[in-house]
Amino acid sequence: MKLTYFFISLTLLGTTTVYLDPNADNNLDVLAFQQFKKTFNKQYQSQVEESYRFSVFLENLKIIQQHNADVTKTYTQEVNQFCDLTIEEFKARHLVKPFPSLKNKKNSALNLRTSVTATTSQPIDWSTKNVLPAVKNQQQCGSMWAFSTAGLLESVYNIQNKPKTPISFSEQQLVDCCGAEGFGCEGCNGAWPTDAVSYVQKFGIVQENQYPYIAKDGNCNKTLENVGFKPSKQFQLPVTDAALQAALQNSPISIVVDASQWNSYASGVFPQSKCSSDPNAADHAVLLVGYNSDGTWKVRNSWGTSWGQKGYITLAAGNTCGLENYAIQVTY
Ligand SMILES: *[C@@H]1O[C@H](CO)[C@@H](O)[C@H](O)[C@H]1NC(C)=O
Repeated sequence: MKLTYFFISLTLLGTTTVYLDPNADNNLDVLAFQQFKKTFNKQYQSQVEESYRFSVFLENLKIIQQHNADVTKTYTQEVNQFCDLTIEEFKARHLVKPFPSLKNKKNSALNLRTSVTATTSQPIDWSTKNVLPAVKNQQQCGSMWAFSTAGLLESVYNIQNKPKTPISFSEQQLVDCCGAEGFGCEGCNGAWPTDAVSYVQKFGIVQENQYPYIAKDGNCNKTLENVGFKPSKQFQLPVTDAALQAALQNSPISIVVDASQWNSYASGVFPQSKCSSDPNAADHAVLLVGYNSDGTWKVRNSWGTSWGQKGYITLAAGNTCGLENYAIQVTY
């Protein structure tokens, strides 16, 4: 294969970066990058930017190929929308760390762990029960907490009311209003689902189409407060597999996790060794929707359907990525 890349070494952010010309040759790497740009509708500001993104893409492609060639891995990786980002860029743009401090919290819902008693727990998957709208995409805004919260409320509302098409709730209302009303939420800079639930208990949440998502901070539209759905109680679950499995019989669960290595996840079981279960490692919020007979968890993300298993990830059994540390539910 003829290589006609031209290399310009520049020092950027203290590291030596190799710039490559994505238009230089019709070799396999170039074709892969062209396919990537087309698939994920990527547009770059300049030739320099495009060259840099191409070099990052190739680095990630190599990591993905090496990972998938290793038969000892429990999960596969793939090229997705994050493949032109370094791991640092991925974390900065799509995760939040640290989450806004728990210190100034207005409510005490966290640490009031309610034990759940269920005589029998059996594997369950709420994603197939017509209680959740299609998987959503938070885009480049640290609003994962709003998606986790909306997902929890949607499922509880839809389980109760059984509409033909599942109701979808407004993340933008939470992004704009939860902080403005003094619940400690910080919009696109992150928040805790428990604070968002406390906001909704007081001010309600309207439907998605009434207060559409714009993926950036906006002013709270107070005319839409006190007209939507208000859940009655919220509670935190004990940090055990058994408690979460029992609680899942009732509804999905809002969870907070370390997702710092989830960027290229494609399928299979994501292992404990690739993330931290330390409560301080939390950088993402998602929705636990079920578990399998082998104890692995099914989790719904808010990165669109092109990511993972149609928007979902399977996590190893146990407190993988800290999923049990801040698990909350509500009652209708
Ligand atoms: C707030 O919501 C109301 C009711 O949907 C709407 O009529 C109004 O235009 C909204 N205000 C703003 C500033 O978007």
